[in-house]
Amino acid sequence: MGEVLAVRGSNPSMLGKAESALEVNLMSDTISFRLNDKPVRLNVDANRVLLWILRTDLGLTGAKFGCGEGHCGACTVLVDNVAVRSCLFTAKDVRNKEVVTIEGLAKDGQLHPLQKAFVEHDAMQCGFCTPGMILSAYSLLKATPHPSREQILQGMEEILCRCGAHTRIIDAVQAAAAEMKGAQ
Ligand code: FES
Ligand code: FES
Repeated sequence: MGEVLAVRGSNPSMLGKAESALEVNLMSDTISFRLNDKPVRLNVDANRVLLWILRTDLGLTGAKFGCGEGHCGACTVLVDNVAVRSCLFTAKDVRNKEVVTIEGLAKDGQLHPLQKAFVEHDAMQCGFCTPGMILSAYSLLKATPHPSREQILQGMEEILCRCGAHTRIIDAVQAAAAEMKGAQ
């Protein structure tokens, strides 16, 4: 506060800049969480949208911006193994949590069985929905390791695919579930 008063008093033309600097300073917070198996510590507005932290601040562009309102699922990531819409999550929502994006799903250079199944079943066209689809399927299989086709359909129906690849997506999730046999 003292610094801002000094700037304001010394140069009125700097007032706008001083006020926005104060705002950023007051709103910024230190947020720690794990991202794709690595610790992350950010000085950031606690209300900054997680999708922008991932894409803009950290350069992880796998999560996509679709609607920005929680409807399409293109921005889906895992938070503590549950699929969430990162356009509706903020920095403070992931404090001390485990975040996984599509970039973190492969291990030791090996694609996750879901990723392999999406490739083998040609379950993508433009690929825009694919990260969200795969992470939603991961979350679904974590909760329901041996889903029926109907359960897969229900679990995935709120993720939109603009290319109409849903049938192949369901096939891929079913194949991955069979291969994984309840493993993650
Ligand atoms: S961009 Fe988040 S749900 Fe559409
Ligand atoms: S593959 Fe294009 S939106 Fe799903």
